[in-house]
Amino acid sequence: MKMWSGRFRQSLDAEFERWQRSFGFDKRLLKYEIEASGAHARALKSAGVLSADDLISILEGLQQIEKQAAASPAFLEDEEAEDVHHFVEKQLVTLIGEAGYKLHSGRSRNEQIATDLRLYVRAAIDQLRAELAELCDVMADRAEQSADAAMPAYTHLQRAEPVLVGHWLLAYVQMFLRDAGRLADCRKRGNVCPLGSGAVAGATVPLDRTTMAESLGFDRPTANSLDATSDRDFAIEFVNALSLLAVHLSRWAEEMILFSSQEYAFIGLPEPYSTGSSAMPQKKNPDLLELVRGKSGRVLGNATALSAVLKGLPLAYNKDLQETQEPVFAAAEALLQMLPLVTGWMKSVVFHFARMLESTQSGFLNAWAAATYLVQRGVPSRLAHEKIGKAVQMCLERNCELQQLPLESLRALSPAFGEDFYQSITLAAVLAAHDVPGGTAPARVRQAIRMAREQIESLREEVHAHA
Ligand code: ARG
Repeated sequence: MKMWSGRFRQSLDAEFERWQRSFGFDKRLLKYEIEASGAHARALKSAGVLSADDLISILEGLQQIEKQAAASPAFLEDEEAEDVHHFVEKQLVTLIGEAGYKLHSGRSRNEQIATDLRLYVRAAIDQLRAELAELCDVMADRAEQSADAAMPAYTHLQRAEPVLVGHWLLAYVQMFLRDAGRLADCRKRGNVCPLGSGAVAGATVPLDRTTMAESLGFDRPTANSLDATSDRDFAIEFVNALSLLAVHLSRWAEEMILFSSQEYAFIGLPEPYSTGSSAMPQKKNPDLLELVRGKSGRVLGNATALSAVLKGLPLAYNKDLQETQEPVFAAAEALLQMLPLVTGWMKSVVFHFARMLESTQSGFLNAWAAATYLVQRGVPSRLAHEKIGKAVQMCLERNCELQQLPLESLRALSPAFGEDFYQSITLAAVLAAHDVPGGTAPARVRQAIRMAREQIESLREEVHAHA
């Protein structure tokens, strides 16, 4: 039986009927539909709408549906169910008879879908944050294992200054920790319960909304029924947080692709995550990275799609809202699949430290440190910059590096140059000079790894507390 056929004389056009169904994708919400229905049933009992026997058989029926769904995917192949709400009602009636129809007393699918989707997003956030903790932990491991290995850092993709490999990796850890933080913010704001909001104006049965909210782990009931049944801000925030995470993953992928090319050769692609070419026998291609970069684009699309669906909707529920589900599922699933692969890749990538080191030896990565040497000897910064610029010019003419210029050539530029200049522009000295919190001096990087570990640990504890 349909959930709404009473006032209709004609049946639905068959093609329209198929086309408007959402069960094909909202079956993902079954678990949450069952949980929320259980909370609603208990509230109906307290409100005197259900007898104790009705309640027991409804709860048992719901449990049975969940069991059957877990046991056989074929159970969910239902060509009749309009959506997950209809599916549960149908199955419940099959299992327990007419009492199953009592479950819908005082509620509307408008509040149900709003609730189910919140529960889905909340669970996805917890899983994603756990995955982010794993990824950050592996990156911190790789940072720690890299010890004092150095590499060039780039601005404008031109060699700029040397950094520790660990410092470079920790930059990504910071991005991903911010992503975890954004997801936590989204979880907090979204953790309110629409149940009891009815179709638009609130339930017509005196349901204890606070008890329903608490039993589902929500912080409190939503405050306004019009808003609650049509609000998808939590979904938009969630998918936008994922789109930023996707941007980070895509930047990471792009840099790894670049660094794996023979032109850089900083990293060796792990074979278990790379593929060959059907034509060129020598090829090892960075497919995982390229697919991360490609799939990230689709997540940005999901975020745009969601906002586009919402932007024209008057209050309150409109069927357009059904279109908000798929972008949420697509983005969540894309990242839940991607993150463990990225973590696996990070675990197995090979760093070519010797090649990275070699790249720090040319390209004047010590030029800023050289200027600082002059500054410390009283030369005004702008003039020091100019002098070292001239020294670089000399080097370019002679095809050498700053440390290879004889002292007399340097002294011709400025009398402030002394023998100790050479000592101050060695790789070790340049690295050590960046001795500020957040800088690349080895001791600072070791401290940063410890701090990142603490952040990862508290992320893990938060995830654990929600489990
Ligand atoms: N499948 C619908 C959705 O996802 C459920 C709500 C239907 N509400 C309605 N008034 N037709 O939005």
